[in-house]
Amino acid sequence: MNLLQEDQTTDLEQIIGLSRRGFISAGALCGAAMFLGGSLLSRSVLADGVRAASSPLLGFNSIDAATTDTLTLPPGYRASVLISWGQPLHADGPAFMPDGSGTAAQQEVQFGDNNDGMSLFAFPDDPDRALMAINNEYTNYRYLYPHGGQPTSAEDAHKAQASEGVSVIEIQRKGDRWQFVQGSPFNRRIHGNTPIRLSGPAAGHALLRTQADSTGTRALGTFQNCANGKTPWGTYLTCEENFTDCFGSTDPNQTFDAAQKRYGVVAASKDINWHLHDPRFDLAHTPNELNRHGWVVEIDPFDPQSTPVKRTALGRFKHENAALTETRDGHAVVYMGDDERGEFIYKFISRDKIDHQTPKANRDLLDHGTLYVARFDDGDSHPDRPKGKGQWIELTHGKNGINTGSGFANQAEVLIHARLAASTVGATRMDRPEWIVVSPKDGQVYCTLTNNVKRGEDGQPVGGPNPREKNVYGQILRWSEQGNDPGAATFDWDLFVVAGNPAVHPKQPKGGSANITPQNMFNSPDGMGFDEAGRLWILTDGDVSNTGDFAGMGNNQMLCADPNTGEIRRFMVGPVGCEVTGISFAPDQKTLFVGIQHPGENGGSTFPEHLPGGKPRSSVMAISREDGGIVGA
Ligand code: FEO
Ligand code: CA
Ligand code: CA
Repeated sequence: MNLLQEDQTTDLEQIIGLSRRGFISAGALCGAAMFLGGSLLSRSVLADGVRAASSPLLGFNSIDAATTDTLTLPPGYRASVLISWGQPLHADGPAFMPDGSGTAAQQEVQFGDNNDGMSLFAFPDDPDRALMAINNEYTNYRYLYPHGGQPTSAEDAHKAQASEGVSVIEIQRKGDRWQFVQGSPFNRRIHGNTPIRLSGPAAGHALLRTQADSTGTRALGTFQNCANGKTPWGTYLTCEENFTDCFGSTDPNQTFDAAQKRYGVVAASKDINWHLHDPRFDLAHTPNELNRHGWVVEIDPFDPQSTPVKRTALGRFKHENAALTETRDGHAVVYMGDDERGEFIYKFISRDKIDHQTPKANRDLLDHGTLYVARFDDGDSHPDRPKGKGQWIELTHGKNGINTGSGFANQAEVLIHARLAASTVGATRMDRPEWIVVSPKDGQVYCTLTNNVKRGEDGQPVGGPNPREKNVYGQILRWSEQGNDPGAATFDWDLFVVAGNPAVHPKQPKGGSANITPQNMFNSPDGMGFDEAGRLWILTDGDVSNTGDFAGMGNNQMLCADPNTGEIRRFMVGPVGCEVTGISFAPDQKTLFVGIQHPGENGGSTFPEHLPGGKPRSSVMAISREDGGIVGA
């Protein structure tokens, strides 16, 4: 096979693609020529193996796709396990039981399952110590229980609840490696039955009251914790995503109101089935419990005794992550995506300014502020050139048609039913918003729109930042706030990358944007993270069948992009059946922590221990360079 010839053909198509459609923003690319040069050069690497030099930010060659049950990295990189599901957090804590025989009480003091978003909190006075707060999104019954099936008892349901939530752990650098510190007094589990306070405008509302909590302010537990945020005042935000899946009903005649339907709850509980063994999750018994979840929860990792707080001012929906930044005049800004087909992108701006001198003064900052939702206008964009303007629409009772007449008695109801309020004001239905990150270099905001096979039907028009019908690959949206002020009411948007498969689909729209090549292609971008130098790391949660539309893409992976040139290189490939999700960096940028979630989701993996007949275990990996350099450089 003549690789070079094929590449040249593809290059021509890509060049035509770029000039015709201009998927890459002119703003970021004040030179498409520069980008094309990079693209051609990087692809020539395939033929001659010479280190690519087109991007000053990317110091490694794109690796090949893989389908093996290993972690694959570029030459000169190494990976070790920081922590895996089930490891005991405390001295003399109960050991992980690979046969699933561990109890719920034991799981409550072990590292949770299916690690997802995470943040690192450095000790101010010791560069070799840090805390990590790590989400535990869900569990896999196949591995959780000896019987490998649905929960059969209250103890089973309790164990599943104990496997989710958040794990706070201390890590220390020993020599050139970061290690988990078992027995640290900071180690803590927050799980599905931990007491949590509800605060903000919706706290205490009748819709949040239950028989067990007549105040509507004292919730139990957080679960389905997807991704995360880190505040400038040193706290961690964990985001409750698919909470509705944990609820069901034992009433054979159960009906749901419009709000319950909009949040996607079903009587059969999407196979999680806690409601059969724990009445708190049975909507026939405790209907308002559903409203006490779907929030952003704030945690102080440095105070193991502190009560986490659900911040209702940020709205209730299927929260993916929370990206923090600051307005020009010092107010906190939180960008948030609602990960469901056709749901929205939100922005919260705090009423008060951040007090950078006194971190504790910000403890209730997220209780007061204004929630907005995004509308993307594509009026000045051409279908082949997706970019345009957008605006933030305020979700405040008494404004923009949100009032008693449209179904909202007060602001608490606007927040509890944020999806309904956002629909009232005509927000844009997106292709499943996942992570949002803010560039530390230029303040541009990036959001993964992971995929949406329903685009084009169900009242979701094709166009704007959602340009493809039955979108199986996803794209990364980017916007710049007016005047580069995150407090602005309007913004300009474009698409940073449109994922696709140019090897299978040489023609658009499934071939992807010009910065997608047969060498770096991927589907379903999900997690993201910027490092200090401004490299954009992209993590995938996609179709790993490696056939059809996805042929040649292999397992889920992590890529690294140069936001200035648009170039993207594959940096890591995960093991069989995993999702790659959760990313953070050591303060010196010489270790990258990344999550391997649900390896062997459907069998076929023993990652990371590879014991004969062993179970796969979700793990946080520490990746570094053998020469001690900065990761990615
Ligand atoms: Fe937990 Fe939308 O991913
Ligand atoms: Ca995700
Ligand atoms: Ca996903």
